[in-house]
Amino acid sequence: MNAPDYLDLVKADLAHLIHPLHHPFDHIEPLIFVEGKGAVMKDVRGQEYIDALGGLWNVSVGHGREELAQAAAEQMRTLAYCSAYAGSSNIPAIRLAARLTELAYPNLAAVFFTSGGAESNESAFKTARFYWKAQGKPEKVKIISRQQAYHGVTLQVMSATGIPAYWKMFEPRVPGFVHIQAPSPYRFEGARAGETVGQAAARELEEAILREGPETVAAFIAEPIMGAGGVIIPPDDYFPRAREICTRLQVLFIADEVITGFCRTGHWFALTHWGVEPDIMSFAKGVTSGYLPLGGIMVSAEVKEVMDSVSPENRWMHAYTYSAHPTACAVALKNLEIMEGERLWERAAKMGDRLYHGLKGLSNLRAVGDVRGGKGLMAAVELVADRGTKAPFPPEEKVGPRVRQEMIRRGVFPRLLREILLFAPPLVVTEAQVDRIVEVARHAIEAVVPGRA
Ligand SMILES: Cc1ncc(COP(=O)(O)O)c(C=O)c1O
Repeated sequence: MNAPDYLDLVKADLAHLIHPLHHPFDHIEPLIFVEGKGAVMKDVRGQEYIDALGGLWNVSVGHGREELAQAAAEQMRTLAYCSAYAGSSNIPAIRLAARLTELAYPNLAAVFFTSGGAESNESAFKTARFYWKAQGKPEKVKIISRQQAYHGVTLQVMSATGIPAYWKMFEPRVPGFVHIQAPSPYRFEGARAGETVGQAAARELEEAILREGPETVAAFIAEPIMGAGGVIIPPDDYFPRAREICTRLQVLFIADEVITGFCRTGHWFALTHWGVEPDIMSFAKGVTSGYLPLGGIMVSAEVKEVMDSVSPENRWMHAYTYSAHPTACAVALKNLEIMEGERLWERAAKMGDRLYHGLKGLSNLRAVGDVRGGKGLMAAVELVADRGTKAPFPPEEKVGPRVRQEMIRRGVFPRLLREILLFAPPLVVTEAQVDRIVEVARHAIEAVVPGRA
């Protein structure tokens, strides 16, 4: 078969494919990927790129893993699909659920599977409401989340997401979602004298719960390290306080570990950095390294007990056709085996340190306002027009998109949020590839905004 012609593909893409965050302007000259191996992807024109965002924060074991293809093929040959509705189950899903309860926080006792992150957070919110209704507290329905949070974009989770660009053309949002400031060491505003950013951000949580009325708040949701909002790493005193506040005010704590789960931050799950356990945890992405769509929620023994305690008419009436998909679960089991065999949490910590220290070396560039990282393989470089005031570049100058373009020209494929470059390569990335990402970022930034600080 002849290789498809690039221009024919672009024409068909523009005519027939609606992309995530769709605008035709973005797809006039797209990269059309055809192959991947480890941390490298090749496009249809034969160019190779380091995949600096590991797919979309998810291709943790790297591209081109034969073992995962085999696991999928074997399960498809045996039993590709069966429903997991009441009264039926399947072996890969049972095994995966059991394995996850061994790997995750000790208090988490049971799993409901979904097909991705948004479905997981939808399930988490509904479960929080259910938990309180089952205990005679039907008014506890509100969700508190943070500005810059990304929890997905179906209508309810879009309302929890704290990035207004995702709301603009889809308003009105679902009522009952309240946003507080993120615990951003670089941009938090309003800490009182003697108060740390972590303490002040946790105080905002307590104040929001009290303002709304604890009897109306079902849950607080937080990414342990905020991903799509710009890799915001909280100060160490934030989560222990947030956990204490939630417990004291009877608000469930949902950890959205869709990005941070499965070794990415140097632990199997990221709240381990702060010794904290959630009541409900959402996961997706890394559970299969993106090889098949799978996500889920894990709930504490206490939440599970409440779910099991209601009468059949009040059952947890929530479901997806693809919940506990046998093939996706078989791939996840193999993926976890690879992570364990290759000790990828250690690799993430080691390569994450290398990436962070390399990127820190860019701090002397005039346009670099902040470099974030150091907790596994998640890092960001925030570009600013003025390092003193932290003012962003005017959008019409397109500084971020131009830097991204310069990186792509040099063979590194990053992700961009406005003027923030985001990095989360596969956990199997090599030392040389990490160093190349850093070198290319430096050259690309200098090409667009020359000058040292
Ligand atoms: C933290 C977090 N939660 C939820 C989601 C939504 O996941 P999905 O795109 O699979 O719906 C994402 C996606 O990037 C995410 O980063």
